[in-house]
Amino acid sequence: MKVLKAKDYQELSRKAANVIAAQVIMKPNCVLGLATGSSPIGTYKQLIERYEMGDLDFSGVSTINLDEYKGLTRDNDQSYYYFMYNNLFKHVNIDLARTNIPDGTEPDSDKECARYNKVIADMGGIDLQLLGLGHNGHIGFNEPADDFATLTHCVDLQESTIEANKRFFASIDDVPRQAYTMGIQTIMQARKVLMVVSGADKADILDKVINGPVTPQVPASILQMHPDVTIVADEAALAKCNL
Ligand code: GLP
Repeated sequence: MKVLKAKDYQELSRKAANVIAAQVIMKPNCVLGLATGSSPIGTYKQLIERYEMGDLDFSGVSTINLDEYKGLTRDNDQSYYYFMYNNLFKHVNIDLARTNIPDGTEPDSDKECARYNKVIADMGGIDLQLLGLGHNGHIGFNEPADDFATLTHCVDLQESTIEANKRFFASIDDVPRQAYTMGIQTIMQARKVLMVVSGADKADILDKVINGPVTPQVPASILQMHPDVTIVADEAALAKCNL
């Protein structure tokens, strides 16, 4: 694992955007795996700035997102579709037809997961997967479990995740209890992985991800086995890592 240290969120966002920009420049028709949450927002802002300066062209890029809440429509302001549209897609010249997010309104989990797995396979896999890190070590919505989940599946969100994400909803009762998420195997098959981690509240879990045993109880720890992972983290998040 390559760890890039940043002094703060701004620097972290710039460094992460550098990695993504390099990918888009080197392969204009690349497949980017994208993430939601507060961690990548600054990275997306940087990418938008570079697009506005004329340094980045998204017209050939395809995207595939990690996850979506089950039950939320695209126009719900807490859906991950809404997040991606407002934090990135509407600001750059990406072809919306080439963007992919699980369909939270599909009630049939088997059907939606099979559809999404086929989308990923038809795209030829993911060139660069961007990840945030959940407080319990989750990536996408792959929660701590007894085994590493493989492909896209429907998960029951853990109480700690519902608690962490309630800040975005009017009340905790409004937080969906289930989500569709890309599986760990798909994430591991991405050619490159870029994880962004910010803040003191992630220091304990980041130490486990980098230095702890590889275990499905800390889903992101499996990244230790991936041949090309870059973690960009700020000093606060790296405080317990002893690097
Ligand atoms: C959510 C998302 C994850 C994200 C995590 C951390 O649960 N499903 O993909 O990484 O939150 O979010 P944040 O970056 O806001 O801490």
